[in-house]
Amino acid sequence: MPDRSQYYTLGAFLLGVVLTSAWTQQWSSSPSRKSRNRQRPNVKDHEGSAEHDGIKEGIEGCIGNTPLIKIKSLSEATGCEILAKAEFLNGAGNSPKDRVALSIIQMAEADGLLTPHSGDTVYEGTVGSTGISLAAICRARGYKAHICMPDDMAIEKSDLLLKLGAEVERVRPAPIVDQKQFVNLARSRALEHTADPNKRGSGLFADQFETEANWKAHYAGTGPEIYDQTDGNLDAFVSGAGTGGTISGVALFLKEKLPGLKVVLADPPGSGLYNRVKFGVMFNTKEKEGTRRRHQVDTIVEGIGINRVTQNFEVGRELIDDAVKVTDDQAIKMARWLVEHDGIFCGSSSAVNCVAATTLAKQLGPGHRIVTLLCDSGARHLSKFWANKEVGGSEDDVSLESVLQP
Ligand SMILES: Cc1ncc(COP(=O)(O)O)c(C=O)c1O
Repeated sequence: MPDRSQYYTLGAFLLGVVLTSAWTQQWSSSPSRKSRNRQRPNVKDHEGSAEHDGIKEGIEGCIGNTPLIKIKSLSEATGCEILAKAEFLNGAGNSPKDRVALSIIQMAEADGLLTPHSGDTVYEGTVGSTGISLAAICRARGYKAHICMPDDMAIEKSDLLLKLGAEVERVRPAPIVDQKQFVNLARSRALEHTADPNKRGSGLFADQFETEANWKAHYAGTGPEIYDQTDGNLDAFVSGAGTGGTISGVALFLKEKLPGLKVVLADPPGSGLYNRVKFGVMFNTKEKEGTRRRHQVDTIVEGIGINRVTQNFEVGRELIDDAVKVTDDQAIKMARWLVEHDGIFCGSSSAVNCVAATTLAKQLGPGHRIVTLLCDSGARHLSKFWANKEVGGSEDDVSLESVLQP
């Protein structure tokens, strides 16, 4: 008999290969195996998981991609579609400043200016929102935060900063020429830290008013998101400006794609930006000697309005087509309107944005689509803007005409 043992061995080997491959395929595609993969990912799975399974890489992963909400009451009343980017849903500090704070920290890390857990500390002068975002992201990435802010801002903002473990200095509002002005103070505190041999790490001045990390965060994030969410179908973008990073970054991105888009500044009382846009001059009548009240910008509104030229506003200024002045009274009434009609409980700058967006809708006439921002929640403004006796709780409906009445 011929020796066939080598054929038997080869046949057995091939059968083994076929069975093993069939088994592996069945095993890896079974639902139980898939869920086991999710629970115990290897490094490659883990990196991909953020995208594929909706898992976010830490709190930083919850920044950006905010929803665009149709404000139904204002849309119905004007015949325009008034859409608001829900920036209060950014997941770290709950405002558009999350994007900026992350951008500043990432740029500093890339430049080797920050090392986690080394004692490195981020210093910033802010009316609150940027500080809250920085404080949260610093915690997440192993840094400390030191925030200088005017002492007339709502107390809940500094309370929140303290709970996040930031060091907080509340200082009297002062003009920018004063070295104790909150932004100047933050800058000098950062320098003092770096020079102090008894302190661990270095001080980094975040510099939100001047750094390009600010407008670039909106150029790379907020702008493209608005474009995608509307399929590029929008007529106007309306925003207030504090540093100017939001309006400049969004305008720079959107106007490249949509040259016919109208970009409109919403400006609160006491701010010089309205005149800067309309006439090229930074001036506010409240600036006249002896007429200014205590606030740095003479308004109950927090976060927007300014009386000096900043790099972040200037970089997009030429792209701003128009400006709308909004009074404190209009903002307060709009905030109440949004609660009563839409269940939206927003802060003061968001209310200013909505007044300006609605005013613009009335000017443009029905059929237009206008995008604005809801920056932060009313919860950040309970002790000041929302403490005003005219706001909230009432069953009496205000008419939109009375909201818009200057
Ligand atoms: C609540 C709120 N809304 C709007 C803004 C203005 O944004 P920007 O600084 O990009 O002009 C700020 C700025 O701090 C803010 O705190």
